[in-house]
Order: sequence, then structure tokens, then C-alpha cells
Amino acid sequence: MKKTNILITGGSGFIGSNFIHYLFEETKFKGRIINCDKLTYAANPLNLADIKKKYGGKKYFFERVDICDYSKIEKIFKKFKIDTVIHFAAESHVDRSIHGPKDFIETNIVGTFNLLDVARKYWGNRKDVKFHHISTDEVFGSLGKTGAFKETTPYDPRSPYSASKASSDHLVRAYFHTYGLPITISNCSNNYGPYQFPEKLLPLIILNALEGKPLPIYGDGKNVRDWLYVEDHCSAIWRIIEKGKIGETYNIGGNSEKKNIDIVKKICAILDVKRPVKNNSAFKGGKLKKYSDLITFVKDRLGHDRRYAIDASKIQKELGWKPKHSFEGGLKCTINWYLENTGWVKKIKTASYAGWLKKNYK
Ligand code: NAD
Ligand code: DAU
Repeated sequence: MKKTNILITGGSGFIGSNFIHYLFEETKFKGRIINCDKLTYAANPLNLADIKKKYGGKKYFFERVDICDYSKIEKIFKKFKIDTVIHFAAESHVDRSIHGPKDFIETNIVGTFNLLDVARKYWGNRKDVKFHHISTDEVFGSLGKTGAFKETTPYDPRSPYSASKASSDHLVRAYFHTYGLPITISNCSNNYGPYQFPEKLLPLIILNALEGKPLPIYGDGKNVRDWLYVEDHCSAIWRIIEKGKIGETYNIGGNSEKKNIDIVKKICAILDVKRPVKNNSAFKGGKLKKYSDLITFVKDRLGHDRRYAIDASKIQKELGWKPKHSFEGGLKCTINWYLENTGWVKKIKTASYAGWLKKNYK
């Protein structure tokens, strides 16, 4: 495989930006990265400010492009002689997909189709290229008390988000079987870590707690997710790019199942030590003594999947990958990151953020 000109879609979002850092900082990658991102509300160019400074115009290139725009994607393939695609771009938040599914259908399904089709036309029968599609464990549906998703588990998506991701997975496989496009797919469990937009559970809870706001728990709080520190997801993706077999799917997970309520309590306990309520000005004059006093049970998410768990034995056995970070270690790193990066938090939380993106990133 060439791996010289890698097109990364959605590189300015949470996992994509962690992946670009990982590639430049933790691997021997010598080629060029072309980050193609529409810069939706979930993106933050600050995530890659240091990368742009160090590698911009040499090994790192940014193109503000919507993957739903076929002709712009074609131009990017030609301009940068793309030989590898790592496709992260997506609408990624389940709650938003419940309130407004349209963008999910467009970006996740039509956008993925555009990339596949341009790659097929541009690459022809080349075998030294690869299209890697990043997907989710949510395509498999919801588990009972026992068991874990394997690569062979039948698809059973239950939210507009997971249905759109399932559709995109099917399209990727169809392009392999029909046209012989050299693809791989990974289905990963819940990620957490630096640069995650504070609509997802972990950053939302950390930042709400620090601001003295309610910590919303959907339903009874006993839904289970299988958590993976984002850097471990990045190392798994790179392993698949380097060693993954064409046409194969790999499940990625941290073997770290947790109930939502237990995670929220754990975050509160860590913050009680790192930033005690008595030293936090957001609590001045109030009666609350500890962060867990903010826990508030709220109406459940519609169609809320009960339990996810990943069987990652295939990638472990066949590609020799395993996660480095324990949940406890990863959670502490994540909390420290949000405590230290107040500028990032402030920027992403201001109402003017969308306007700033529009003005600065045309
Ligand atoms: P994110 O929402 O943080 O980032 C998505 C990025 O895609 C943003 O930068 C956004 O601007 C960009 N984007 C959205 N629509 C676009 C479009 N039409 N054209 C170009 N760019 C567009 O998402 P994330 O959490 O980093 O997830 C990345 C990928 O990983 C997604 O495909 C998601 O389904 C998958 N995934 C996420 C998790 C998780 O826990 N976050 C777990 C498994 C799989
Ligand atoms: O499993 C992989 C998926 O993980 C990815 O494909 C998605 O892109 C990613 O967003 C994530 O989906 P979830 O719906 O599991 O993540 P979220 O952080 O939204 O919610 C995690 C759990 O916490 C879920 O059971 C819902 C619950 N929750 C969430 C929020 C935002 C709450 O109880 N309160 C909240 O405020």
C-alpha cells in the first residue's frame, strides 16, 4: 500500500483530530494528510492549530469541503493524488438524529456514497490503495444482560444515527463486492478523551459539574456502554491501515463496560479531589457540598439502547492490537485535559462560535 497522500474526512472533529495528532506524533508516517471537513458545529479548527503551524502546506493540508459535494471531492482526489481514504466525517450524535435525522441521511449515507464512487472512478483497478470506513457498534442494536457484538452479529440499527451508519457500512461492502474497491471497515464502541464536543456524556458531565449545572442522566442511568480511550481507537485504525485485510471488518473496543450512573459518580468523585466544590466559585453561597449533589434523572432518550459491548478478539488475534489505557487512567487524563484547556472550552461554548467558524474558515 502506498499511504502517501491520505484523505482524512472529518479530521477537525473529535476522533479525526486525535487521529491526525496520533499519526504525526506517534507513528513513522512520512506522507501528506489532506483533511477534508465541512466544519459543522462539532468541528473545531483549534484542535489542529499546532499541526497546522508545524506541518501546514508541507505535510498537512486543510480543505473546507462538504462530502455531499461530489465534484469538490473529485477535485481533491486529483489535486492531491489521494491513495488512501480514512473516512471519519459524519453526523455523530444520537440525540440530534432523533430531533432532526435529515443531516444524518445526507452526510452519513450520501456523503459516504460520494467518497466511494469518486474513489472507484479515480483508482480504477489499483491494488495499492485503501478506503477505510469508520463505523460504530450501534449498527448491531442493543444487547441483553450478556454477550458481546462480534463482526458476524446481524445488523439491527435502532436510531436514525445508527441506521444511517448501517446504510453507509452496507454501501462500503457493496463497493468491495461489486467493484472490487479495496476497503476495510471498523466498528468501534464509545470513545472518550480530549477534544470531544460537550454534547456527549463525558465532556457534558465534566463541564456541567465544573459550572455547577445539573448532571442529566437519562432514564434509570443503568444503560451500559463499552468505553475506549480515543488514542486506543486511533492506534487500532492505524493498525488496520497498515495490516488489515482488504474486504474485512474489525470490531474495536476497550473491554470496559460501564453503567452511565457509575461513570457520572466516578467523574464527580475525581472532581471532588481535583477541584473541591468549596474552591469552585460557581458554587459560592450555595448549599451543595459535592458534585454528585448535581445528579438529576431526566426523561429517557427515545428508543434508548440498553447495552453495548464489543468482542474485539478478531483485531487482537489477527492484527495484534490491544488498548493501552485503562478506563480509570483514561478518565483521569480526560478530566485533566478539560481542566487545563479552558480556552478551548470557552471558545466552543460561546454562542458566537458558529459565526467565528464562518468568518475564519471560508
Ligand atoms: P464528531 O461529530 O466529533 O466529528 C465529525 C466531523 O465530521 C466534524 O469535524 C464535522 O465538521 C465533520 N463533518 C460532518 N458532516 C460533514 C460533511 N458533510 N462533510 C465534511 N465533513 C463533515 O464525530 P466523532 O465523534 O469524531 O466521530 C467520528 C466518526 O467515528 C464518525 O463516523 C462516527 O460515526 C464514528 N464513531 C464515533 C464514536 C464515538 O464514540 N464518538 C464511536 C464509534 C464510531
Ligand atoms: O457506541 C458508539 C457511539 O457512541 C458512537 O457511534 C456515537 O457517535 C457516539 O455519540 C456515542 O453514542 P452514545 O449515544 O452512546 O453517546 P452519548 O455520549 O450521547 O451517550 C452515552 C450514554 O449516556 C447513553 O446511554 C445516553 C446517556 N446520556 C447521554 C447524555 C448526552 C445521558 O444519560 N445523559 C446525557 O446528557
